[in-house]
Parts: sequence; C-alpha cells; structure tokens
Amino acid sequence: MIRLFRATNFRCLENAELALSPQFNLIYGANASGKTSLLEAMAYLGRGKSFRGASTANLVQHGKDEFVLFGQVDSLSRTRSLGVRNSRSGLEVRVDGDSEGGVAALAEALPLQVIDPEVHNLVAGGPEQRRRFLDWVAFHVEQDHLLAWRRFRRALKQRNAALRAKSGHATIHSWSAEFVALSDELDESRRRALGAALESLSEFGRDLLGTELGFDYQQGWNKDRRLIEVLEEGVERDLQLGSTQHGPHRADLKISYDQKQARKLVSRGQQKLLASAMILAATETAQTALERPLLLLLDDPAAELDNDSLERLMAGVARLGCQVVATSLDPAVLGMPVGAALFHVERGVLTAVPAAENRA
Ligand SMILES: Nc1ncnc2c1ncn2[C@@H]1O[C@H](COP(=O)(O)OP(=O)(O)OP(=O)(O)O)[C@@H](O)[C@H]1O
Ligand SMILES: [Mg+2]
Repeated sequence: MIRLFRATNFRCLENAELALSPQFNLIYGANASGKTSLLEAMAYLGRGKSFRGASTANLVQHGKDEFVLFGQVDSLSRTRSLGVRNSRSGLEVRVDGDSEGGVAALAEALPLQVIDPEVHNLVAGGPEQRRRFLDWVAFHVEQDHLLAWRRFRRALKQRNAALRAKSGHATIHSWSAEFVALSDELDESRRRALGAALESLSEFGRDLLGTELGFDYQQGWNKDRRLIEVLEEGVERDLQLGSTQHGPHRADLKISYDQKQARKLVSRGQQKLLASAMILAATETAQTALERPLLLLLDDPAAELDNDSLERLMAGVARLGCQVVATSLDPAVLGMPVGAALFHVERGVLTAVPAAENRA
C-alpha cells in the first residue's frame, strides 16, 4: 500500500502530492479536473505503464520534458521508496535507489489492481486481456511465473524468427521442442493460479451478481492433443504466416454466467459487475498469497451501475480490506467509511478536505 504519493508534470498534474489513508481514499472533482490522471499516475508507479494503454510519451505534460513519480510504500514490515522518471532518454525506475529490478521490482513493491470504466472489456473484449488477468494472478501466486513467462516469450520469438527466415524443418523442430517445454511450464503455472483463485471468483460472483460463474481455461491448442504434434502438423501454415499459431500465447479464459457465455451478456452493467468481481477475486487471491493488503484503484466506479449494483460492488471492495483510492464526480455517491481521506481536485490541483468537513 502507498502512504505518500507525488506526481510532477504527469498529464494535467503539475505538482500533486497526497498523504493517503491506508484504507479508503476518495478523490472528487468535475469532468477533466484530473481524477483519472491521478489514478493513472499511481498505477504507473506500480506497473511502469499506463492502465489505459496510453503511450508514455503522451503522459508527459504538454510543454514539459519529463514526468517524475514518487511514492513511499509499505510492503510487509518495510517502507520503500519508489521512483519513476520518464524523459527523452527513456524510462528510469528506482526502488530504494536501485535501478536493477526494473518494472518487475515496482510491481513487487506496489501490487495493484484497477477497476475503471473500461473494465467490462475483460469480459467483452479479446482474449489478451484475460491472459493478462490470469498472468497477473500467477505472477503473485506462483513464485517462478515471471521467469517462466519471460522464457516462454523468448522461445516464441525465436521460433517465429526461424519461421520467418524459412529455416529448414530440422531447425524449426529444435525450436519447437524448446517451445513446448516452456509452454508446459507456463500452462501449468496458469492452471495452478486459476485453481488458487476459483473460490474467490465464485464468492465475488455470487456477492456481486447473485449467480454462479464458471471459468474454463483454454490452453491455446486442442486439449486432447500434445502440443508438439499440433506444431508439427501445422508447420506449413506457421511457415506461411511467419508465426506460431498454437500455444499458451493463444490461451483464453472462457467465462460463463448462469451457464451461458458471458461475452454474450447483453447488459453493459452486468459485464462491468462481472469483470469487477474478477478483479476483486484476483486482488483477494494475491493478498492471501502475499499476506499484505494491495492497492485497488477505482476510477468512477459509479459509472454505468444502478444504486443496487454500486452498493454490491462497494460492499465487495470493503470486504477485501485493501487500500482503496476511488474517484467520483460527486463525493456523496460512494459513501465514506470511517477513517476515509477525502481530496478535491480542480484543474490538476489537489486539496485535502479536513475530516470535519467530510461528514456529508
Ligand atoms: N499530456 C497532457 N498534458 C496536459 N494536460 C493533459 C495531458 N493529457 C491529458 N491532459 C488533460 O488533463 C485533463 C484531465 O483529464 P482526466 O482524464 O484526468 O480528467 P477526469 O477528472 O478524470 O475527468 P472525467 O470526470 O471526465 O473522467 C483533461 O483536460 C486532459 O485534456
Ligand atoms: Mg476520468
């Protein structure tokens, strides 16, 4: 969790600093005041990238050369300093002054999840987001997941390069063998991570949607076949396309809702609730594995939800007991738990609202 945060020249935030509550924090302000910018800056400090998929160059305030983010973070019994600077010479990342660990060290020091108005894409969008979701859980639950994932990516790149170079079958076969070994490792790690999350997924599904959710991991190749055989049979097509058509990089997580395919749910609000239930379950699973509270960023959670749905979502959030930074147009909509910190933002300038004034 994060105790002190500072953003300089990040989007519309010229110099924003806030001392955060370890529990609930609410940022409110009008449209275009800087609410999303603030959450994006916090997420950037824990991920080294934008959660909206914005390019880093566009996050530097117009007319400025660089942005700088700083955070004081409690992780287990230690306080750590996180710093990120993006300038013309690239991205610089430091954890306690050390730049060795790169972005992975940020993610380890400040694990966080985001629910924003685009969250429904986790259900309605393509498989890549669901793979990322599963890999995020695995990264925190499975000790060697990051290593397995990186080794797999390298093998995929090498096999694809051999395919594009129209290398001989012997060369491609030797890359395939390596690719299969690393695919199995990644696949098993993802399956264990999903297994660890299943109970939370069902519970949050019931709490938020009042129904049974189903999650079926699809590994990225025919489940009744061995990957090496699938690759060998498909080698001509792989050569034609210059890329590997089967493997864990094609995996998906099929979600069912009341035994129907969730992607086909008509209502956007239900998609948002379902995706939010998944994010809360992932957060809970990682919290249990890491034995510490995570940071949850809620950008305009009230958007698209009726009162009852919003109440269920916020009750689920409260049950997690994580640190929350939420945004809202209107401070009264989300309700303010005891001990919450309230901030007003106007044209990129943040002001803490004293406790006596935030009883409304
Ligand atoms: N690189 C940048 N430099 C300066 N200003 C920027 C930059 N990028 C975005 N902005 C501006 O920051 C302002 C705040 O945007 P932000 O998305 O944070 O608002 P918001 O409070 O979340 O609004 P809403 O309630 O509509 O979601 C916008 O006016 C936007 O144009
Ligand atoms: Mg916004």
